[in-house]
Amino acid sequence: MSPMSAIVAIDGPSGSGKSTTARGVARRLGYGYLDTGAMYRGVAVACLRDGVDHEDVERIAEMTRTVSLDISTVPDDQRLLVDGVDATLTIREPSVSAWVSAVSTNAASRAELVQRQRAIIAAGRYVVEGRDITTVVCPEAAVRVLLVADPVRRMARRGAELAGVLDEAALHDQVLRRDKDDSTLVNFTDAAPGVTVVDSTELTVDEVVETIVGLAHDAGLT
Ligand code: DC
Repeated sequence: MSPMSAIVAIDGPSGSGKSTTARGVARRLGYGYLDTGAMYRGVAVACLRDGVDHEDVERIAEMTRTVSLDISTVPDDQRLLVDGVDATLTIREPSVSAWVSAVSTNAASRAELVQRQRAIIAAGRYVVEGRDITTVVCPEAAVRVLLVADPVRRMARRGAELAGVLDEAALHDQVLRRDKDDSTLVNFTDAAPGVTVVDSTELTVDEVVETIVGLAHDAGLT
């Protein structure tokens, strides 16, 4: 088995249940877990900290190349340090969620983060979650899943997570506007050849985890 093949790659839009599912699969397999979205968010935190303009493509690219991102890959101990400062909670703030598309739509930022993600998962056993894992970061992964869910259900899930924090319009912005922005450089709505589509609309988290663990076993991962 090549070192890169002990990888379970999971892509999908926001609210598809990716993070909870990916952590659950990692726990079950005893694998590490890499939340690549947290790295995009970490760059946004650094840009907000330094007052970088949302449209300053060059500065955002430069920030991505220079910022230090120290990310934990332990499924039950998710932490991110941005230039040595704990940003674990900050990266989930609505201001960061609203800013992060400026990073994810920046081609140079993507290239840098893809390199860093590959370096983290090289020669390891990981469940990796994001938008371009099955297609760009690790197309050779042993298991490649596109996790989808009905948009109404995705909004409802995000709404439940962010109850009282966001109103309806802000929620719509976070889920649907961001997906649209995010899909300008990455296609995460159609499965690439060889990628298994798992629709979580009518499934519980446990059922989705079970399905993906089944795919991992079928692929010879233990
Ligand atoms: O999954 P998330 O909401 O934490 O992702 C944060 C942002 O980063 C979101 O705008 C999508 C983007 N992203 C990406 O473009 N590619 C990835 N591999 C992971 C996230």
